[in-house]
Order: sequence, then C-alpha cells, then structure tokens
Amino acid sequence: MRMVDVIARKRDGGELSTAEINWFVTEFTAGSIPDYQAAALLMAIYLRGMNRRETVDLTLAMAHSGDQLDLHDVAPFVIDKHSSGGVGDKTTLVVQPIVAACGVPVGKMSGRGLGSSGGTLDKMESISGWSCSMDLAQFKRQLAEIGLVLSGQTAVLAPADGKLYALRDVTATVASAPLIAASIMSKKLAAGADAIVLDVKVGSGAFMPTVATARDLAQIMVDIGTDAGRKTVALISDMNQPLGSAVGNALEVKEAIETLQGGGPASFWAHCLDVSAHMLLLAGKADSLEAAQELAEKARADGRAFRKFRDMVEAQGGDVAQIDDPSLLPQARFVEPILAPRSGYIAALDTAAIGWAGVHLGAGRLVKTDRINYGVGFVLPCAVGDYVAFGDSLGTIHADDREQLEQAREEVLTAVTWSNEPVDPLPHIYETITA
Ligand code: URA
Repeated sequence: MRMVDVIARKRDGGELSTAEINWFVTEFTAGSIPDYQAAALLMAIYLRGMNRRETVDLTLAMAHSGDQLDLHDVAPFVIDKHSSGGVGDKTTLVVQPIVAACGVPVGKMSGRGLGSSGGTLDKMESISGWSCSMDLAQFKRQLAEIGLVLSGQTAVLAPADGKLYALRDVTATVASAPLIAASIMSKKLAAGADAIVLDVKVGSGAFMPTVATARDLAQIMVDIGTDAGRKTVALISDMNQPLGSAVGNALEVKEAIETLQGGGPASFWAHCLDVSAHMLLLAGKADSLEAAQELAEKARADGRAFRKFRDMVEAQGGDVAQIDDPSLLPQARFVEPILAPRSGYIAALDTAAIGWAGVHLGAGRLVKTDRINYGVGFVLPCAVGDYVAFGDSLGTIHADDREQLEQAREEVLTAVTWSNEPVDPLPHIYETITA
C-alpha cells in the first residue's frame, strides 16, 4: 500500500477500506509513516469526514495499536468517564473520587490540553510531585488498594492515539467527529473499563458547535462502546460558558477541592452530580438517577470523596499539603478584576475565546514544547443570563506578566455579548444518549 494513494482517496471524498485504515494505523504507530503524510490524511478526514464503518474501523485499529488492559483480576467491575473537551472542565477531579468513594473502582487514562480546551493531566500536574506515569503493575495495584487511578497516555495503551492526538493539536484537525470518536473510544476500549460515561460537550467552547453534531458524535461513541460489550451512556452537556468559575490549572484544582468539600459553584456541582449519578447507575449501585444522586451527595457530605481524592494524590506522589491547604498551590503574581464596561445582561460568551485567552496567559500550549504556567488563568463567576452593572466585577485575571494580563482582559471582554433584555440561563444537560 502507498500512503499517497490513501491520502488521495480521502482527499477526493472516497471511502477508505478496513485494510487501508489498519495499515495506516499500524505503520504510523511503528514510525514508518512520516508526520507530514499522517497530517495530510488527518486534514483530508477533517474536511471529507468518515462514514460509520470507517469510524469504527479507525477506533478498533487504534484500540489494538497497543495492549488491551484486563483489570478483572483486581476489580470485578471498573468504570470510566471521558469528556470530549471544554473550558474549565474539571469534572473528572470531582466525579472520579465520588464514584470511587461509593465503592465502584475507577481507572482512568486522561489527556492533556487540546487547543482551547484544558486537560486533566495538566491540571493535576499543578500539584507538586503528582505524576500520571505508571506501569501496568502500579495501575493495577493502585486500583486494588485505593479504587482510584488517574494515569496518562502510555506507550503501550492506544499508542496510536498518543501520536495522532499530538499531531491533531498542532494541525487544526481536532474538531472532527470521526477523529474525536476514535481518539476517545480507542483509549476507553484499551483501558479495560466495563462501563463508560461520555460527557459530550456542545457550544461555543466545545469541538461540536450544535446539539445535532454532538448527538451524532455521542451516538457513534455509544454504539462503538456497546458493540465492544461495554455499558456506555453519553450526556450532551452545555459548553456555551466555562464550566464552574475557574479556568486555568491550579485554579481549577482549587475549585475542584472546594467542590469536593461541599462548596464550589452550584452549577458545577449540579453537573458533577449528574455525571456521578450516571456512573453509579451503570455500575448498578442504585436503581434510579435520583437514588444515585443521593449516594453521590452523601459521599461528598461525609468527606469520603475528598479523602479518596487525597489518597489518589498521595499514591501518585503529589504533595498532600497542597490539597489540605490549596493556597499552597502555584499562584500567579498579579490578580486583577475584570470590570464590566457597561450595564446589561450577559447574552453569550465566546467560550473558546476565553479558553484561548487562558492559553495565551500560559495555561495551555501553542506548540508541543510549551511549558505550562500552572498559576495563571481566570475566575469568572458570571454566567449567561446574569445582570451586571457598569463597573461591577465579572471576575479576576491571574497572570505573571502585566502585558499578558492586559491582553487577557481585552480578550475576555471581547468574548462577552451583552443584551438590554433579560436572557434565559443555559441548561447544563441537553440530552442523554443510551444504546
Ligand atoms: N478527548 C480526547 O481524548 N480526544 C479528542 O479527540 C477530544 C477530546
């Protein structure tokens, strides 16, 4: 097979055969296909799409590009969740310990920031010493001992995704439903969870702009999971405004800790409660969503969920003093309010622009080698539908550099659309997609 023929077929809107897809994934993972040809194929897929059969083939080829975990020797039933990516999305940090505290082992392979969206591993690495790299034996040991593991992409689990993910991030080929579906589901299948809750984001800060496109993505991921014998549910949730208030790595860890301790923004907690309840329901811990929510509420209220998070941080080498006192987490030098330039209702937020503003402050990467600045970001408690008076604070900017701070202020203010008329608040879940 010749890569140039595969690229040309997709460029011209053709369908790739199962053999071509398997060949591409095997050879690219082995390093025999150069990045420039793989990038050309990714762009052709981005522009031309893939049908259902091609998407399933790509997912399975990527899932089989490395080892397949079987965790049943240490846990009879393991659950996982995955978000399609958003701004301020620190849900994993809260829901995984809640579910683990309710007695359902959670083993998760998380990702790094992608484009304007943040990544769980980058957030967790703002805790000194915390590490996501571990071998299979350690993954299993921690799953058995604590019931909660948060690992990173490894060379042995879905390595094709590790290479393609990094290439997509820098070739403007992230927001493609077949590529997102294959990326997420290949990791989930390889990591061995028996049940998966997918949090598919929709809106101005998500890769899927409309509920219809998010629904298509959610449906194919649920079908792939179900066909592979995993119980799979997808929630289509709002990303037309940052999730919670904090955007930026250490700021988000702090907000997650506050939430685990009973505080945090109410809208963020509502989202965590829904995701946790769906995970507990799939795990058979409750027979209704309401009963599952009660279990999650209890695990937060009696401190078990917070302790589980703390145990996971400690097991993975993190400094628990920063968990007990989040003021010890990295902090930016300058913290300044963003003042409303007029009175009115917030009609819309360009959430991706807020995510990019965070990246420009140093909270994310513009090129693969960029180093993350953990302390910078925003705390934006304002939401669509809020009335704000001229000169009131919309939130705060956390920056290490004055010039970057002023640029971020400008970017956030430009991201706000105002209305003189009242505006309805946004829902947080639009639909639930089941098998
Ligand atoms: N999360 C992933 O793991 N992959 C994507 O492509 C998008 C979000």
